[in-house]
Amino acid sequence: MSDKYLFASERLGFRNWIDSDIPKMVDISSNPDVMEFFPATATKIQTREFIDKMKLMCVEKGYCYFAVDQLKDESFIGFIGLYYQTYESPVTPNVDIGWRLNKKYWNNGLATEGAKKCLEYGFNVIKLKNIISTTPIINTKSIRVMEKIGMEKLTEFKRPRVQSDKRLEDCVCYEITSSN
Ligand SMILES: CC(C)(COP(=O)(O)OP(=O)(O)OC[C@H]1O[C@@H](n2cnc3c(N)ncnc32)[C@H](O)[C@@H]1OP(=O)(O)O)[C@@H](O)C(=O)NCCC(=O)NCCS
Repeated sequence: MSDKYLFASERLGFRNWIDSDIPKMVDISSNPDVMEFFPATATKIQTREFIDKMKLMCVEKGYCYFAVDQLKDESFIGFIGLYYQTYESPVTPNVDIGWRLNKKYWNNGLATEGAKKCLEYGFNVIKLKNIISTTPIINTKSIRVMEKIGMEKLTEFKRPRVQSDKRLEDCVCYEITSSN
């Protein structure tokens, strides 16, 4: 593994964010298909702010939603990682695992492979006791990834932040606990 990466899985390298990721992430987060289960696509400014927040969290906590490259050609594919969520809900504060990939990389098992590695990192390196993942109930792709990485359904809840969009109001929370 190149020292560019904090850790790697078979096909993916995980690292903190760099400025050249900004236009690539803007491209991903402005795609309506990628953002189907969010209230809106993200603007350039919102994506810049998101990346600034990730950079800081990576330094302060040792994790964030990591920038992810495909190892074979070092192409940036999106993010997979861990994030300390504090929004008000019955399942927070908690560290969650999340993912958002460029559509051209979907359905090759990359989110599943990357998320499994991030769980390992969270439990073995960061020493977390549990990790959750949440999504609107209608995001069946994301729920499938949660199931494939060994998470189990904890509860359903209503997410205040997205209550303005009825479609996204009903959410599900999955959880996995450390075996250490
Ligand atoms: C969710 C996401 C990261 C999955 O990435 P991916 O690399 O395609 O995931 P994987 O290939 O590892 O697994 C996808 C699984 O979902 C399944 N799937 C694909 N489309 C589906 C659908 N419409 N409904 C149910 N399952 C679906 C795939 O068949 C696969 O499962 P399988 O291996 O049992 O066949 C990607 O779709 C994405 O970036 N979505 C937009 C962002 C997003 O919604 N993030 C979560 C927000 S909470």
